[in-house]
Amino acid sequence: MEEEYDFIFKIVIIGDSSVGKTGILNRYLHNEFYKDTKATVGVEFGAKKLNINKKHIKLQIWDTAGQERYRAITSTYYKGAKGAFIVFDISNKTSFENVDRWIKEIKMLAEIDIFIILIGNKCDLEDKREVSTEEAKNKAEFLGIPYLETSAKISTNIDKAFNDICIRVVDK
Ligand code: GTP
Repeated sequence: MEEEYDFIFKIVIIGDSSVGKTGILNRYLHNEFYKDTKATVGVEFGAKKLNINKKHIKLQIWDTAGQERYRAITSTYYKGAKGAFIVFDISNKTSFENVDRWIKEIKMLAEIDIFIILIGNKCDLEDKREVSTEEAKNKAEFLGIPYLETSAKISTNIDKAFNDICIRVVDK
Protein backbone atom coordinates (compact mmCIF):
# COMPACT_ATOMS: atom_id res chain seq x y z
CA MET A 1 0.00 0.00 0.00
CA GLU A 2 1.20 3.55 -0.75
CA GLU A 3 2.14 5.28 2.46
CA GLU A 4 0.80 8.71 3.06
CA TYR A 5 3.08 11.66 3.57
CA ASP A 6 2.49 15.31 4.37
CA PHE A 7 5.53 16.15 2.30
CA ILE A 8 7.72 14.40 -0.19
CA PHE A 9 10.73 16.40 -1.13
CA LYS A 10 13.99 16.11 -2.92
CA ILE A 11 17.39 17.32 -1.89
CA VAL A 12 20.61 17.14 -3.88
CA ILE A 13 24.16 16.73 -2.63
CA ILE A 14 26.73 18.48 -4.79
CA GLY A 15 30.40 19.40 -4.58
CA ASP A 16 33.78 18.37 -5.96
CA SER A 17 34.78 14.75 -6.37
CA SER A 18 36.01 12.98 -3.19
CA VAL A 19 34.71 15.55 -0.71
CA GLY A 20 32.55 12.81 0.85
CA LYS A 21 29.07 13.23 -0.66
CA THR A 22 28.46 9.47 -0.86
CA GLY A 23 29.99 9.11 2.60
CA ILE A 24 27.46 11.56 4.03
CA LEU A 25 24.60 9.72 2.33
CA ASN A 26 25.76 6.29 3.56
CA ARG A 27 26.22 7.54 7.10
CA TYR A 28 22.77 9.10 7.11
CA LEU A 29 20.88 6.23 5.51
CA HIS A 30 22.71 3.17 6.79
CA ASN A 31 24.94 4.47 9.58
CA GLU A 32 27.90 3.04 7.69
CA PHE A 33 31.23 4.41 6.53
CA TYR A 34 33.59 2.98 3.93
CA LYS A 35 37.24 3.92 3.78
CA ASP A 36 37.50 3.28 0.07
CA THR A 37 34.67 4.26 -2.18
CA LYS A 38 34.37 4.42 -5.94
CA ALA A 39 33.56 7.71 -7.61
CA THR A 40 29.85 8.13 -8.17
CA VAL A 41 28.86 7.67 -11.78
CA GLY A 42 25.89 9.86 -12.71
CA VAL A 43 23.72 9.85 -9.65
CA GLU A 44 22.87 7.63 -6.69
CA PHE A 45 19.58 7.79 -4.85
CA GLY A 46 18.45 7.34 -1.30
CA ALA A 47 15.21 7.81 0.56
CA LYS A 48 14.35 8.22 4.19
CA LYS A 49 11.18 8.80 6.16
CA LEU A 50 11.18 11.22 9.02
CA ASN A 51 8.87 13.18 11.28
CA ILE A 52 9.32 16.88 11.82
CA ASN A 53 6.83 18.99 13.76
CA LYS A 54 4.38 16.06 13.55
CA LYS A 55 4.66 16.10 9.77
CA HIS A 56 5.30 12.85 7.98
CA ILE A 57 8.06 13.44 5.46
CA LYS A 58 9.65 11.38 2.76
CA LEU A 59 13.04 12.70 1.83
CA GLN A 60 14.48 11.79 -1.54
CA ILE A 61 18.20 12.32 -1.68
CA TRP A 62 20.19 12.60 -4.88
CA ASP A 63 23.92 12.08 -4.54
CA THR A 64 25.53 13.43 -7.66
CA ALA A 65 28.90 12.75 -9.22
CA GLY A 66 31.57 15.36 -8.57
CA GLN A 67 33.63 14.38 -11.56
CA GLU A 68 32.90 16.39 -14.66
CA ARG A 69 32.93 13.37 -16.97
CA TYR A 70 30.11 11.71 -15.04
CA ARG A 71 27.90 14.78 -15.04
CA ALA A 72 26.09 14.56 -18.34
CA ILE A 73 22.49 15.19 -17.33
CA THR A 74 23.00 17.94 -14.81
CA SER A 75 19.77 19.88 -15.17
CA THR A 76 17.63 16.86 -14.25
CA TYR A 77 19.53 16.63 -10.93
CA TYR A 78 18.02 19.91 -9.85
CA LYS A 79 14.51 19.45 -11.17
CA GLY A 80 12.06 19.85 -8.29
CA ALA A 81 14.81 19.96 -5.65
CA LYS A 82 13.80 21.89 -2.52
CA GLY A 83 17.18 21.71 -0.84
CA ALA A 84 20.86 21.33 -1.63
CA PHE A 85 24.01 20.58 0.28
CA ILE A 86 27.10 22.11 -1.24
CA VAL A 87 29.89 20.01 0.20
CA PHE A 88 33.59 20.77 0.35
CA ASP A 89 36.41 18.98 2.19
CA ILE A 90 37.98 21.06 5.00
CA SER A 91 41.34 19.40 4.19
CA ASN A 92 41.17 20.41 0.53
CA LYS A 93 41.34 24.13 -0.24
CA THR A 94 40.51 23.68 -3.94
CA SER A 95 37.20 22.02 -3.08
CA PHE A 96 36.38 25.13 -1.02
CA GLU A 97 37.38 27.51 -3.81
CA ASN A 98 35.09 25.58 -6.14
CA VAL A 99 32.05 26.31 -3.97
CA ASP A 100 31.49 29.36 -6.19
CA ARG A 101 31.27 27.10 -9.19
CA TRP A 102 28.58 24.99 -7.51
CA ILE A 103 26.64 28.07 -6.44
CA LYS A 104 26.70 29.25 -10.04
CA GLU A 105 25.37 25.93 -11.26
CA ILE A 106 22.54 26.00 -8.70
CA LYS A 107 21.60 29.54 -9.68
CA MET A 108 21.50 28.48 -13.31
CA LEU A 109 19.68 25.18 -13.00
CA ALA A 110 17.74 24.96 -9.76
CA GLU A 111 14.52 26.59 -8.65
CA ILE A 112 14.94 30.07 -7.27
CA ASP A 113 13.72 29.20 -3.75
CA ILE A 114 15.95 26.17 -3.25
CA PHE A 115 17.32 26.09 0.28
CA ILE A 116 21.11 25.65 0.42
CA ILE A 117 23.45 24.61 3.25
CA LEU A 118 27.23 24.85 2.93
CA ILE A 119 28.87 21.75 4.40
CA GLY A 120 32.54 21.47 5.36
CA ASN A 121 33.01 17.69 5.54
CA LYS A 122 35.90 15.61 6.99
CA CYS A 123 36.09 17.73 10.14
CA ASP A 124 37.75 14.71 11.78
CA LEU A 125 40.90 15.64 9.80
CA GLU A 126 41.74 18.60 12.02
CA ASP A 127 45.51 18.16 11.58
CA LYS A 128 45.11 18.37 7.80
CA ARG A 129 42.72 21.31 7.82
CA GLU A 130 43.26 23.78 4.95
CA VAL A 131 40.08 25.80 5.39
CA SER A 132 39.44 27.48 8.72
CA THR A 133 35.97 27.43 10.24
CA GLU A 134 35.99 31.20 10.23
CA GLU A 135 36.82 31.44 6.54
CA ALA A 136 34.03 29.02 5.68
CA LYS A 137 31.57 30.82 7.95
CA ASN A 138 32.40 34.12 6.29
CA LYS A 139 31.82 32.62 2.89
CA ALA A 140 28.45 31.20 3.95
CA GLU A 141 27.47 34.51 5.48
CA PHE A 142 28.39 36.28 2.27
CA LEU A 143 26.24 33.82 0.34
CA GLY A 144 23.42 34.14 2.87
CA ILE A 145 23.33 30.43 3.70
CA PRO A 146 24.06 28.40 6.85
CA TYR A 147 27.37 26.61 7.40
CA LEU A 148 27.88 23.28 9.12
CA GLU A 149 30.96 21.11 9.64
CA THR A 150 30.41 17.37 9.36
CA SER A 151 32.27 14.11 9.43
CA ALA A 152 30.81 11.09 7.70
CA LYS A 153 33.66 9.10 9.25
CA ILE A 154 32.98 9.80 12.90
CA SER A 155 29.35 10.77 12.41
CA THR A 156 29.48 14.45 13.32
CA ASN A 157 26.46 16.61 12.47
CA ILE A 158 25.17 14.27 9.76
CA ASP A 159 21.65 13.90 11.18
CA LYS A 160 21.67 17.58 12.07
CA ALA A 161 22.43 18.59 8.48
CA PHE A 162 19.47 16.63 7.13
CA ASN A 163 17.16 17.70 9.96
CA ASP A 164 18.08 21.36 9.49
CA ILE A 165 17.36 21.31 5.80
CA CYS A 166 14.03 19.51 6.35
CA ILE A 167 12.95 21.96 9.03
CA ARG A 168 13.67 24.92 6.76
CA VAL A 169 11.79 23.39 3.86
CA VAL A 170 8.80 22.39 6.02
CA ASP A 171 8.71 25.85 7.63
CA LYS A 172 8.49 27.40 4.23
P1 GTP B 1 32.43 11.54 -6.10
O1 GTP B 1 31.49 10.38 -6.11
O2 GTP B 1 33.63 11.33 -6.99
O3 GTP B 1 31.76 12.84 -6.41
O4 GTP B 1 33.05 11.64 -4.58
P2 GTP B 1 32.27 11.84 -3.19
O5 GTP B 1 32.17 13.29 -2.90
O6 GTP B 1 30.98 11.07 -3.19
O7 GTP B 1 33.29 11.23 -2.12
P3 GTP B 1 33.19 9.84 -1.32
O8 GTP B 1 32.03 9.83 -0.39
O9 GTP B 1 33.26 8.73 -2.32
O10 GTP B 1 34.51 9.91 -0.42
C1 GTP B 1 35.82 10.06 -0.97
C2 GTP B 1 36.84 9.57 0.05
O11 GTP B 1 36.79 10.36 1.24
C3 GTP B 1 36.61 8.11 0.52
O12 GTP B 1 37.87 7.50 0.68
C4 GTP B 1 35.92 8.27 1.85
O13 GTP B 1 36.18 7.18 2.71
C5 GTP B 1 36.55 9.56 2.37
N1 GTP B 1 35.65 10.31 3.29
C6 GTP B 1 34.35 10.64 3.10
N2 GTP B 1 33.87 11.32 4.16
C7 GTP B 1 34.88 11.43 5.06
C8 GTP B 1 35.02 12.04 6.35
O14 GTP B 1 34.08 12.63 6.93
N3 GTP B 1 36.26 11.96 6.94
C9 GTP B 1 37.31 11.32 6.36
N4 GTP B 1 38.47 11.29 7.02
N5 GTP B 1 37.21 10.73 5.14
C10 GTP B 1 36.03 10.79 4.50
